[in-house]
Amino acid sequence: MAMEKMWAGRFQKALDKKADDFNSSLRFDCRMYAQDIKGSMAHAAMLAKQGILPQSEVDLIIDGLEGILRDIDAGKLAFDGDAEDIHMFIEAELTKRIGDAGKRLHTARSRNDQVAVDIRLYLRDEAETVVSLIAELVKAVTDKAEESADIIAPGYTHLQRAQPISFGHQLAAYAMMLLRDISRIKDAVKRMNYSPLGSCALAGTTYPTDRAFAAQKLGFDGIVQNSIDGVSDRDFCVELMSAFAVLMMHLSRFSEEIVLWSSWEFKFIELDDSYTTGSSIMPQKKNPDMAELVRGKTGRVYGNLMALLTTLKGLPLAYNKDMQEDKEAIFDSLDTVKMCLEVFAPMIATMKVNGENTYRAAQKGFINATDLADYLAKKGMPFRAAYKIVGQIVAACIEKDRVLDNFPLEEYKKYSELFEEDLYDEISLETCVNKRTSAGGASPSSVKTQVAYVKEELKKI
Ligand code: ARG
Repeated sequence: MAMEKMWAGRFQKALDKKADDFNSSLRFDCRMYAQDIKGSMAHAAMLAKQGILPQSEVDLIIDGLEGILRDIDAGKLAFDGDAEDIHMFIEAELTKRIGDAGKRLHTARSRNDQVAVDIRLYLRDEAETVVSLIAELVKAVTDKAEESADIIAPGYTHLQRAQPISFGHQLAAYAMMLLRDISRIKDAVKRMNYSPLGSCALAGTTYPTDRAFAAQKLGFDGIVQNSIDGVSDRDFCVELMSAFAVLMMHLSRFSEEIVLWSSWEFKFIELDDSYTTGSSIMPQKKNPDMAELVRGKTGRVYGNLMALLTTLKGLPLAYNKDMQEDKEAIFDSLDTVKMCLEVFAPMIATMKVNGENTYRAAQKGFINATDLADYLAKKGMPFRAAYKIVGQIVAACIEKDRVLDNFPLEEYKKYSELFEEDLYDEISLETCVNKRTSAGGASPSSVKTQVAYVKEELKKI
């Protein structure tokens, strides 16, 4: 037998079964039970403090709520499929346990402000978990960058070999991006951390409530100043989901490089067996599935953001049931981001960088051509003129099947008298990389500075 609805008094007929299932959010909003209960406790305490409910009844309510929380935590209380949502479920259970006092809890409150509080509390906690997971990844990437500081590799533009770099420099680039992801999430939490509780259905209440008191009990930085805004907006969800989308974009680019680097064509890295899979038919295969999945899952995190933006677009103020759709989208993004980070950090920590292969790759592709032009420019030739000459030398080398490092000096001299024996030293891969000591440059010493910077930033988190 289905439970009688709270609003049954107003209706002649029960809700159709399929409509009831369609309407219910319990199966996914039940994960906010702890936040719902804590929000109710703060609300009840406020009602007692303001003399809206007698202390004795509020004591009963708080005891009852504590019992429910304990029982759910211990797996002794299952979520009843008949309740419309977690808010109704907890209230009905409370009333079942303590009787009439349970029916008073909803004084000066509505599910509209209740749900808005619950999501903020839930996301505030979860955002912190995501931040610490990103911090672990940043640590893994930074350690790997430090370890690879002296490894010479080609740096690319257009996926064409461009200039030689320390391999650690490329890894450190991702650490910087991820640090910004942390800061974006923290910013979103700052704006999220205001309490809508006491906004009630949309218009506040005639009871003498103390919203600031409840807000403070729940660890909010203050209250949402407009009751309609308090129950209507989900911009804080959008912000967090945008931050997640940017994070996934970074992880996806990193994944793409992991996939490329572990291919036979590159072989710059080897992923650990525990983060790769084999093929069901090709015995030689070792596939970078984790990186591919992260790249693939980026799509759903973008999609969830778009879904919520679209749901909110065009909604009149204040609460509309459409807004119940916020939860599955944001929960899915949250779960996805957490799962991705949990495999990404150890995948990076355990990967091996093959310095011989990165070095060999850097030897090809005239990667030191800019440095040869710089050589002439440093001897007084305008850079544009030097650039043109080096272009001609590269063309000659290609024709003669040579590289800049073994093109004879007498040939060089045909292009400019400025060329001397020291050019070979100046364009060696070691010199090219080691001398890129400009701030934020690709030299091993710069990588070490960057690593130190990231480590300091991590301490502030
Ligand atoms: N389950 C609802 C949601 O998630 C709770 C708020 C319901 N409010 C209402 N007026 N029907 O949005």
